Amino acid sequence: MDSFVWDKWVRFTHWSVALLFIINYAITKAGSEIHQWVGYAVGVLVLSRLIWGLLVHSPARLTNFLPSIPQAIQHIKQVIDERKDEHTGHNPAGAIMIWLLWSGLLALAVSGALMENWYAAPYWLEDFHETVANLTFFAALIHVSAVILMTKITGRSYLKSMKPIIKK
Ligand code: HEM
Ligand code: HEM
Repeated sequence: MDSFVWDKWVRFTHWSVALLFIINYAITKAGSEIHQWVGYAVGVLVLSRLIWGLLVHSPARLTNFLPSIPQAIQHIKQVIDERKDEHTGHNPAGAIMIWLLWSGLLALAVSGALMENWYAAPYWLEDFHETVANLTFFAALIHVSAVILMTKITGRSYLKSMKPIIKK
């Protein structure tokens, strides 16, 4: 199971999106030109990953990990009982988080673009953008904690499957 490694595009988009998201959340000046371009880059990278997920026939295919709450609950029960995760791609609990993260990231790019380019943008759009940024950050914290916890419980190295593309 440990020998499974995500394809290069999944790994490239994962690490660039993660890095650029953190840079935009914590480092760039909110609303600045660089903030806008970094935000657009995140949106384009996520879209490219989604298109990739429609084209490939592998665990990265989107239809292989559609969100399902009953399946996620069943999976969590199984992890608690048997301390193993034998899914080759994303497990059903991870899948729900991944769709949430993608939705948050795309909502940030779209709300940011509307704030900047739509003269009649409603006043609440800025609050919406800020709230989605905070929720996505919180979700990413849970995501990373879940990766660490699952590695401890199951003994499987999730990080090895998502190793940066510079590593052979
Ligand atoms: C140091 C921080 C991070 C680590 C160690 C990490 C680790 C991982 C791992 C191991 C997976 C694969 C999970 C599986 O096998 O099912 C994954 C998937 C994913 N992570 Fe992260 N992650 C980090 C930060 C982030 C951040 C900040 C975001 C977004 C805001 C993010 C978004 C995603 C998404 C969208 C996927 C699905 C990838 C795909 O199928 O294309 N991650 N992450
Ligand atoms: C990864 C994507 C993004 C993240 C994490 C992000 C995050 C944030 C955060 C945390 C704020 C501060 C909110 C506040 O305290 O008022 C903010 C404000 C803002 N962002 Fe973004 N953003 C992203 C994408 C974008 C994009 C694509 C645009 C525009 C094209 C944009 C334009 C703005 C503007 C105009 C503000 C308001 C600045 C002000 O208060 O005057 N953002 N963003």
